[in-house]
Amino acid sequence: MIEIKNLGKTYHIGNIPVYAVKDVSFKVKKGEFLGLTGKSGAGKSTLLYQMGLIDQPSHGEVIIDGIQTSNLTPEQRSQMRLNTLGYIFQDYALLPDLTAAENIALPLIMQGTSYKIALAKAYEKLQLVNLQGRKDNLPSELSGGEQQRVAICRAIVTNPKILFADEPTANLDTENGLNILQIFTKLHKMGQTIVMISHEAEYIKFVDRVITLKDGLIIKS
Ligand SMILES: Nc1ncnc2c1ncn2[C@@H]1O[C@H](COP(=O)(O)OP(=O)(O)OP(=O)(O)O)[C@@H](O)[C@H]1O
Ligand SMILES: [Mg+2]
Repeated sequence: MIEIKNLGKTYHIGNIPVYAVKDVSFKVKKGEFLGLTGKSGAGKSTLLYQMGLIDQPSHGEVIIDGIQTSNLTPEQRSQMRLNTLGYIFQDYALLPDLTAAENIALPLIMQGTSYKIALAKAYEKLQLVNLQGRKDNLPSELSGGEQQRVAICRAIVTNPKILFADEPTANLDTENGLNILQIFTKLHKMGQTIVMISHEAEYIKFVDRVITLKDGLIIKS
């Protein structure tokens, strides 16, 4: 599903290079639930951004579903992000003026689905995470755990081939964190390919395989 070959990302602060990811190669199989772990600053988020086509690597290749992504135009990259990839971040990133159901419907509307059908599909996803009673609530009326469940619905409503999650439980207490991981497990059992960053051992045990990064390199996989 994803192949990463000799990937590296160097940031520059003024003239000083920061080698965030140095040289990383691995594959993610279809349907796999992969965990990325490692200490703060190890390069986890940087690697996820390159894999998720949010950013472009300094060198190396990201091949998604057989497509060599470095050959894509910016327009093709954004189409791929919208149509085949899903993202979940630690801060939920919901739009404050839209209801829960509207937030979830938005990617479908951007794809050209009518408002009515998009809202109906959003409601189906809310049922999957047990939030059907909160469809008309604004994000500010929801708890952190509930907002993250809405963010998961938004990420999966387009049936992405790959779901990327960067520390999805970082702002949640243990109970809500476990609830999010149970939802991920349910999606995984339904065949969803997932790449999740976590540095908490209690959450990393839910995944099929763990890759550990240190100083921009894989030290364990
Ligand atoms: N935009 C940027 N410009 C310059 N340096 C950056 C930038 N983003 C990240 N870095 C640096 O790259 C390195 C890897 O950062 P990254 O955010 O990938 O780590 P991480 O493993 O996700 O850490 P955390 O667990 O704290 O989220 C760090 O040294 C960081 O300071
Ligand atoms: Mg990070």
